[in-house]
Amino acid sequence: MRGSVFYFFSAFLPLPSGERAGVRGLRYLRLLLHANVSYHRAVTTQTNPANQTDTAAPPTPLLDVRDLAVHFHPRSALFSKTPDPVRAVDGVSLAIHQGQTLGLVGESGSGKTTVGRAILRLIPLTSASVTGRVTFDSANVLTARGDQLQKLRREMQIIFQDPAGSLNPRMRVWKIVAEPLLVHKLATKPDELRTRAVQLLERCGMPASAADRYPHQFSGGQRQRIGIARALALDPKFIVCDEPTSALDVSIQSQIINLLTDLQRDLGLTYLFISHDMAVVSHTCQRIAVMLRGKLVEQGPREQIIEDPQHAYTRELLSAVPTV
Ligand SMILES: Nc1ncnc2c1ncn2[C@@H]1O[C@H](COP(=O)(O)OP(=O)(O)OP(=O)(O)O)[C@@H](O)[C@H]1O
Ligand SMILES: [Mg+2]
Repeated sequence: MRGSVFYFFSAFLPLPSGERAGVRGLRYLRLLLHANVSYHRAVTTQTNPANQTDTAAPPTPLLDVRDLAVHFHPRSALFSKTPDPVRAVDGVSLAIHQGQTLGLVGESGSGKTTVGRAILRLIPLTSASVTGRVTFDSANVLTARGDQLQKLRREMQIIFQDPAGSLNPRMRVWKIVAEPLLVHKLATKPDELRTRAVQLLERCGMPASAADRYPHQFSGGQRQRIGIARALALDPKFIVCDEPTSALDVSIQSQIINLLTDLQRDLGLTYLFISHDMAVVSHTCQRIAVMLRGKLVEQGPREQIIEDPQHAYTRELLSAVPTV
């Protein structure tokens, strides 16, 4: 514990002149890592999802992705040669155990969102060929149809980066939150839908009075809470968090991350946490996968990725962590 305290404060010590900003960034990441571990050791003996090790995980992952490839069909211009497909995702394999979080990091355009959307079966077959195998709780996701696909659509949800864009501006908040229940015919009576929406909003730190207002009447952080409440409506097992804090002020980001961590602990949720920010991922995920131009270049436990990165691109991402 004393070592951790020293480590925490050592990150703020001045660096020798000429030391690269990246080294300071790495020090900051280690600070996050050690502060997180020491906090949980000191404050609670309870198992916290953010610090579970691989050895504690059950043998069969909840989500198992093998050799996933997504090639978008480009629109060909009149009289021109058909262009090559966009290989947005090319041979991605990853697994996430129940109750854990895998962080998927990489630069813009590397294919992170496409991986998430393919896992959720949100890519129309007319726009891309999706190959490989995605197994969720023993179900074959890419071939599921009918009732099995409906069940998967309930169990797997997504939280978007831009809460303003993902919430219908013309709907009252309670209707936005309760809409999935109506779509899946799990509740139909307005009273029942409204009551459930208020419960979900309160669970996400919003007052009951928010229910009758419209999305534009809230701040970015509050809108993200509404988006999270909606994602929880169908009682999912797994959520793709697609850059859920990237559009928010730094001060609000940690509140949303804390909410997601609390929900994971209380509801046993499993997350794929997409981000371009190593600092955020190091704080929230047990494992980290690094993506570059459609492929995974490295993945492993977060301590290993942060302390001993093997790929030059991972080192580049780590060196981009801002100075504290
Ligand atoms: N519907 C589509 N049709 C054609 N190409 C697409 C489509 N969606 C994504 N792409 C391409 O696939 C690649 C990966 O995009 P994706 O949105 O998955 O990246 P990302 O890592 O999530 O980026 P960002 O960090 O900016 O969100 C990009 O080259 C993108 O232009
Ligand atoms: Mg994206």
